[in-house]
Amino acid sequence: MSNNQVEHGGYIHHVSILFFLIVMVVVRVEAYSGGGSSEQCDYFTGTWTVDESYPLYKPATCPFIEREFRCVPNGRPDLIYTHYRWQPLSCNLLRFDGRNFLEKMRGKSIMFVGDSLSRNQWQSLTCLLHSAVPNSNYTVARVDDVSIFTFTEYEVKVMLDRNVYLVDIVREDIGRVLKLDSIQSSKLWNGIDMLIFNTWHWWSRRGPSQPWDYIQVGNQVMKDMDRMKAFEKALTTWAAWVDSNIDPTKVRVFFQGISPSHYNGTLWNEPSAKSCIREKTPLAGSTYPGGLPPAVGVLKSVLSTIKKPVTLLDITTLSLLRKDAHPSIYGLFGSKGMDCSHWCLSGVPDTWNEILYNLI
Ligand SMILES: *[C@@H]1O[C@H](CO)[C@@H](O)[C@H](O)[C@H]1NC(C)=O
Ligand SMILES: *[C@@H]1O[C@H](CO)[C@@H](O)[C@H](O)[C@H]1NC(C)=O
Repeated sequence: MSNNQVEHGGYIHHVSILFFLIVMVVVRVEAYSGGGSSEQCDYFTGTWTVDESYPLYKPATCPFIEREFRCVPNGRPDLIYTHYRWQPLSCNLLRFDGRNFLEKMRGKSIMFVGDSLSRNQWQSLTCLLHSAVPNSNYTVARVDDVSIFTFTEYEVKVMLDRNVYLVDIVREDIGRVLKLDSIQSSKLWNGIDMLIFNTWHWWSRRGPSQPWDYIQVGNQVMKDMDRMKAFEKALTTWAAWVDSNIDPTKVRVFFQGISPSHYNGTLWNEPSAKSCIREKTPLAGSTYPGGLPPAVGVLKSVLSTIKKPVTLLDITTLSLLRKDAHPSIYGLFGSKGMDCSHWCLSGVPDTWNEILYNLI
């Protein structure tokens, strides 16, 4: 009798282990198949390959490119940099189709929120869409810090909210205070169907181009603090805003990722280079010798704490490989400037938008 019980118990034990294993297999299979094909492919690991069918539009077909990004009309003589296509290692990207994008987004609004790198991507998207439907009417308007590009026929709004820190700067008696816990400007983001955030480049600013006098965390007001910690704190405030305000059934949220600069050739094995000038081709391969900027790690760690779905456009590495694609002396200030932070249009931000297109 007792033997029997033991055997019986052993049998149940085996059955439960078997059951457990089956459940595990089912759970794993679901984890892999869930989310559809877009999440199975890593669009962000790949190489740049020459493709004469690129760029996706000629600068001349986009009359509204701002001087800052308009490298070819500004006199840039070499054009090889415009003929590259991003090729992920493990899959192919669909070529950007502007009509299809507009049809998918009919009646909807898209808003980029961030600094001039957001403006760079916003301009790229409006150029990609306009060049696909050059005879379709559009309007451009600006209301305070928000630029609104409307494809009237499709009722699609592509907007830019210039907001370099995401958190607030408030004028007080002591001066301009950067408040790392305050995100009142988020009221502009309500009711938008797709939001693409970005902040980073302004966190290291000092001196006259720093647009604040004090920095505040909680009740503590300081003259300055560790900038990477400030960046992290602000992102955490933004993350809390996402978690308490975004309805994922209505709103799609992206983070643009850290767009890299090229002022130090040591990082791409060309120690004599002090900027991106005269760089004509991308780096070969899939990795950047100088590694990733530390801000990427901070951003990813904050994103990992958000409960609502936020998709990172993880464009840092693919952009790091493009030391050739900045305006250099063909940007806003011409030969008096050296811009190795923004990107020529057409150019790299078109690829960011091509990946965005593949994700939606
Ligand atoms: C575009 O705008 C013009 C001028 O406002 C108007 O006459 C024309 O009908 C519009 N075209 C379309 C396709 O809506
Ligand atoms: C360039 O990067 C190298 C390697 O990180 C570093 O040692 C060097 O100080 C940098 N040069 C400048 C001018 O920042």
